[in-house]
Amino acid sequence: MRITSTIATLAAAKLVASQALNDSNPDDALWGATSPPYYPSPWVDETTEGWETAIRKAKEFVGQLTLLEKVNLTTGVGWEGGPCVGNVGAIPRLGFPALCLQDSPTGIRFTDYNSAFTSGGTSAASWDRKVWYDRGYGMGEETRDKGIDVLLAPVVGPLGRSPAGGRNWEGFSPDPYLSGVAVAESVKGVQDAGVIACTKHYILNEQEHFRQGPESRGFGFNITDSISSNVDDKTLHELYLWPFADAVRAGTGSIMCSYNQINNTYGCENSALLNGILKGELGFQGFVVSDWGAQHSGVFSAFAGLDMTMPGDTTFSSGYAFWGPNLTLAVTNSTIPEWRIDDMATRIMAAYYFVGREKNYVETNFNSWTTQTEGWENAIGNKNWGVVNKHVDVRREHAKQIRDAGARSTVLLKNNGVLPLTGKEKFTAVFGSDAGDSLYGPNGCSDRGCTNGTLAVGWGSGTSAFPYLISPLTAIANEVLSNGGIIQGITDDYAYSQIAALASQASHALVFVNSDSGEGYISFDGNIGDRNNLTVWHAGETLIQNVTAVNNNTIVVIHSVGPVELGAFVDNENVTAIVWAGLPGQESGNSLTDVLYGRVNPGGKLPFTIGKSREDYGTDLLYTPNNGEDAPQDNFNEGVFIDYRSFDKNGIEPVYEFGFGLSYTNFSYSNLKITKHPNVPAYAPNNATNAFAPSLNSTPVSTDLADYQFPDDIDRVPLFIYPYLNSTSANASYGDSQASEPYAAADTSSYIPEGSQDGTAQWKNRHPAGGAPGGNPRLYDVLFTVTATVTNTGGVVGDEVAQLYVALGGPDDPLYQLRGFDRLYDVQPGQSVTFGADLTRRDLSSWDTVKGDWVITDYEKKVFVGKSSRKLELEGALDL
Ligand SMILES: *[C@@H]1O[C@H](CO)[C@@H](O)[C@H](O)[C@H]1NC(C)=O
Ligand SMILES: *[C@@H]1O[C@H](CO)[C@@H](O)[C@H](O)[C@H]1NC(C)=O
Ligand SMILES: *[C@@H]1O[C@H](CO)[C@@H](O)[C@H](O)[C@H]1NC(C)=O
Ligand SMILES: *[C@@H]1O[C@H](CO)[C@@H](O)[C@H](O)[C@H]1NC(C)=O
Ligand SMILES: *[C@@H]1O[C@H](CO)[C@@H](O)[C@H](O)[C@H]1NC(C)=O
Ligand SMILES: *[C@@H]1O[C@H](CO)[C@@H](O)[C@H](O)[C@H]1NC(C)=O
Ligand SMILES: *[C@@H]1O[C@H](CO)[C@@H](O)[C@H](O)[C@H]1NC(C)=O
Ligand SMILES: *[C@@H]1O[C@H](CO)[C@@H](O)[C@H](O)[C@H]1NC(C)=O
Ligand SMILES: *[C@@H]1O[C@H](CO)[C@@H](O)[C@H](O)[C@H]1NC(C)=O
Ligand SMILES: *[C@@H]1O[C@H](CO)[C@@H](O)[C@H](O)[C@H]1NC(C)=O
Repeated sequence: MRITSTIATLAAAKLVASQALNDSNPDDALWGATSPPYYPSPWVDETTEGWETAIRKAKEFVGQLTLLEKVNLTTGVGWEGGPCVGNVGAIPRLGFPALCLQDSPTGIRFTDYNSAFTSGGTSAASWDRKVWYDRGYGMGEETRDKGIDVLLAPVVGPLGRSPAGGRNWEGFSPDPYLSGVAVAESVKGVQDAGVIACTKHYILNEQEHFRQGPESRGFGFNITDSISSNVDDKTLHELYLWPFADAVRAGTGSIMCSYNQINNTYGCENSALLNGILKGELGFQGFVVSDWGAQHSGVFSAFAGLDMTMPGDTTFSSGYAFWGPNLTLAVTNSTIPEWRIDDMATRIMAAYYFVGREKNYVETNFNSWTTQTEGWENAIGNKNWGVVNKHVDVRREHAKQIRDAGARSTVLLKNNGVLPLTGKEKFTAVFGSDAGDSLYGPNGCSDRGCTNGTLAVGWGSGTSAFPYLISPLTAIANEVLSNGGIIQGITDDYAYSQIAALASQASHALVFVNSDSGEGYISFDGNIGDRNNLTVWHAGETLIQNVTAVNNNTIVVIHSVGPVELGAFVDNENVTAIVWAGLPGQESGNSLTDVLYGRVNPGGKLPFTIGKSREDYGTDLLYTPNNGEDAPQDNFNEGVFIDYRSFDKNGIEPVYEFGFGLSYTNFSYSNLKITKHPNVPAYAPNNATNAFAPSLNSTPVSTDLADYQFPDDIDRVPLFIYPYLNSTSANASYGDSQASEPYAAADTSSYIPEGSQDGTAQWKNRHPAGGAPGGNPRLYDVLFTVTATVTNTGGVVGDEVAQLYVALGGPDDPLYQLRGFDRLYDVQPGQSVTFGADLTRRDLSSWDTVKGDWVITDYEKKVFVGKSSRKLELEGALDL
């Protein structure tokens, strides 16, 4: 989603061009790849396990609706048309309020008295299912209490193909398995609180540059269309689709289609991905909503499987819509069959009932477009003044949970024994702007689009307003002062003489550095969403150098959106500890001091690899258009080999590997046991057919356009998108100065694809790898259980994240792939506990592009258990 465009300096863009490491070129097999058509769009299946009641209720509800009411459910009312970032029309006849959709994956955006949670990518470092569930549930509660129906979270796209990707921090991890577990727990948490989760962005939305044509043009890039992520089927299934399958299996009520193109078709009109894979193969029963402005066609996107358009207008606040009146017309003129709009509405209502919205309704009590109590209800047209913000405090006890999540997600990278601190240090000095408060306050920059003071979240629509932000300096000062100690801080990164003077006096120096990124509509310091580099900002390395030159006990704390290059300081003997604290949210300083002062023994592990340089990752972003003014081509040539899989394949030594993290104690691993489950049913491709598209017996669609005119009693809001027609002439209702094609164009082949109108029983929508939400249920059969003994060999109680990796053995398989983990809580000194993980058929399968299905290959398969992706103490063979 975007609001405004800040113009970047072109000089910065040019500078980056010379560093571009993306290897896409016209000789690649993937260059100019296309997506095959897949029609018709699968309709809901009332027999889907877990969804039966929700779908039945939805059908009953939609059966009562008129065409105009169905159009209202599917179409946003326009940017700034209602209180939320996205609102559809209401159904006043049935007393059904307008649905409200709101950001973000770190809490509620554009309101007050809400919490600012730990970011997804940071919470991933906890490797803790409870952290993810509680975080989702907490956000769900706040969302519900503000009167929001759909929370635009969680994120698994971007997955994190390249470390500089601007929005990676909103998602979890470049490992699909870790992301898959995290997204499933998050979806369950959010939805158990009674609101609909919207898992996003589907799919391959791996960079900010060129994600949208108009935005890119605003930054001076002369391109007509969004970037195309081109990918083969194996990579799609084994890597990028994997966590989406987990989200669908966990019951996500909606999925957001992305800005980018995939194989040169836009995400929100890609029938192969929406109809074929999401609704067909993955059996998704909820609704697909467009990212804000990601819809590029009316009829065509409807056939491709889009169910709701956001924010509803063609461009923000234009007053025109691909759907709205156009959808009314397209159904009345029989272009779009009634079953398709019925299915859109049914999917929306199925999600609604699936999470129990009817029992959890709260009237929307805030307005995104003002923080004042009074304002316009419809900012789009400056209409309906009144009380719009009730300032409801929805935070509950979430502060504790956020503090806990932040501490559990902190990763100790280096420790020469200086940590934990006691609070009785003789002289504590703190350095760096990242330790202190922002001069502008925690919310001083719109959508956190700057970095001033401590970094606790990235920028863009993935933010929520901080109720407060505990800076590290504040929390450390509390700690030291409660022990009667000495503490001084310098938060000017460049005051070198004062820094040297203070550092030389201190017994303990804590240096804070950071690295920020965000969403592509904001450019900060020349970073157009994506990071231009992986080094720390504000001359952080020089700052560290200045301190270490005169202080032999320097502790470095990093707040960052992802991996950073640790440069020379990682090996500096005066750097006695390094802590990665990620983006902790509002309790930042408290979470950190819990770890620094030993109240929490660090148990977090890196959810990504920290390499020596960005080149070592083997994948990178495209910073300059590579296809003239046509859509830039981003070829995912590396296949499934990103992050640690790439380091492993290319034999590159990372600085800190995926899964790495130290503790104040030590753990040993022993006693690997592999138990094969008997009598597991064989894999059987799904071959069911589905029934005819349902007829809901709703009011017959009239073809008389007089029936769809604006009612007299409506006080029209300017620019607001309604379902009504402006005229009894179809041509006049359709037309506006922007219409690119005449109404009822002679050639319909481009937007009415073959088979798209066919509502007869289908066999092909039941994919062999399909059959249930998340795919073929046989994929989730447990074939093996692996156990190992984990012993705390150190002196203090601690958590250990035990990790299981598999080697599937084929030439195209990664050396190791994560396939199980568990955070073992509170293991006492000397205590041994059992780590256990189930291996499902899916965990051991590879995607066969010829069969178009999962297979377990004949190659020898192994399992490994250990404390990181490179400390795999135990090894065993799987007897298949
Ligand atoms: C994308 O194109 C590649 C290369 O032609 C093809 O293998 C793959 O199946 C396509 N995938 C989709 C979803 O269109
Ligand atoms: C459609 O939604 C708008 C905005 O909520 C509302 O004013 C209108 O009455 C609705 N139309 C119908 C037919 O329900
Ligand atoms: C964009 O490229 C096209 C074709 O090369 C050219 O006609 C047009 O003037 C360019 N626009 C800008 C703003 O550079
Ligand atoms: C924060 O803003 C102040 C005032 O503009 C500026 O002097 C300072 O350098 C900024 N800090 C950082 C870290 O950018
Ligand atoms: C990396 O980017 C940051 C933020 O834009 C900038 O301050 C820093 O100078 C850059 N580092 C290098 C080595 O160019
Ligand atoms: C401190 O930083 C300044 C500015 O870059 C640099 O000139 C100086 O050499 C640094 N001092 C040390 C000891 O690294
Ligand atoms: C480490 O700190 C001491 C001061 O305690 C200093 O003499 C020494 O040069 C420093 N070493 C490095 C590598 O900076
Ligand atoms: C730092 O230097 C002081 C003075 O030489 C010494 O007492 C202390 O043990 C050193 N600390 C570390 C962590 O090496
Ligand atoms: C109908 O859709 C076309 C694009 O397909 C658009 O140009 C036109 O403005 C839309 N009409 C209305 C009334 O929004
Ligand atoms: C039906 O309406 C849609 C939406 O306005 C339009 O794109 C299409 O051309 C129309 N088709 C016919 C045959 O009138």
